[in-house]
Amino acid sequence: EKGGYEHFMLKEMYEQPKAIADTFSPRIKDGQIVIEELGMNDEEIRAVSKIVIVACGSAYHAGMTGKYVLEGMARIPVEVDLASEFRYRDPILAEGTLVIVVSQSGETADSLAALREAKKKGCKVLGIVNVVGSSIAREADNVLYTWAGPEIAVATTKAYSCQLTALYLLAMRFAYARGAISESELAEMIEDLKKLPAQVEMLLSHKDRIQKFANRYLAARSIFFIGRGIDYAISLEGSLKLKEVSYIHSEAYAAGELKHGTISLIEEGTLVTAVLTQEDLYKKMLSNMEEVKTRGAFVMAVTNEGNLDVEKAADYVVYIPETNRFFTNSLAIVPLQLFGYYVAVGRGCDVDKPRNLAKSVTVE
Ligand code: F6R
Repeated sequence: EKGGYEHFMLKEMYEQPKAIADTFSPRIKDGQIVIEELGMNDEEIRAVSKIVIVACGSAYHAGMTGKYVLEGMARIPVEVDLASEFRYRDPILAEGTLVIVVSQSGETADSLAALREAKKKGCKVLGIVNVVGSSIAREADNVLYTWAGPEIAVATTKAYSCQLTALYLLAMRFAYARGAISESELAEMIEDLKKLPAQVEMLLSHKDRIQKFANRYLAARSIFFIGRGIDYAISLEGSLKLKEVSYIHSEAYAAGELKHGTISLIEEGTLVTAVLTQEDLYKKMLSNMEEVKTRGAFVMAVTNEGNLDVEKAADYVVYIPETNRFFTNSLAIVPLQLFGYYVAVGRGCDVDKPRNLAKSVTVE
């Protein structure tokens, strides 16, 4: 069943290239992003004044990436909320707000309740869902399916990657319809999207090197992740992957917030993983890395190919290949998934079924 892999989590990480391609391929037609399931024409897309994304856990992290991408690319204001918070705070939803519920299982109780709340308030709800025919898929006004296939491991990998892909498609569709990107920018993005599967594959092929590195941290007490902007969103997901399967405490911090707290936790040898893929935030990240290094941290960096300066501020570097600045999360997550996975394997954890966790959280 595991097709020769030791765990479903590893198998599902390896299924990412195909899952990502299956999610975007049917929606690229004649150089355009065509999302019939959206049920919206250009005019309706232009009439959207705000987007609110609600979800839980990793799906919430995908939503955070979605916020940076939708705002940056399509210039639409986006709010992201945890479904368990959104549903209880009597959210203010003005006319023209599109609510997006992101869920792998389509059965998460809080996400389903948030969907109902949004509908009750008169909003149009779009589901980004993996399980066909699930409750969220049935109750949403429209569904954009992520074609990840069945996900067995409790810790999500391929479904999360497909959620990112679905959000990129949506952002591209919105950005083009609203005149925020040109025809040639769209064409370039489509080319970059098409390159993602092979790039993910290439990053997966470095698994032995990551495993060797992970083996040095099996007894770590705490591991930190830092990033800015879109790289903060991926830091949150990288940190969740590690802690949920390895039971090592971990925290992700917006790098600019370090000196407001977490930096006091850095000790000699503490591992800090820094993600820096955004050119405009690059220098700021380098100085945040220096800050922790001076305090004894060991710094692992995930950055773009060619950013050789990083080697001065980091002790260990993973390079990701070139892509559109909005798509870097899809590549940066791969070494972080592998790292969390191998730390858990090295510690002898039940990787596919971490204690106390369930694949589908149907309690509130
Ligand atoms: C983490 C993980 C969870 C889920 C969350 C939402 O690896 O899998 O955090 O992302 O429970 O689940 P869905 O997407 O099914 O609504």
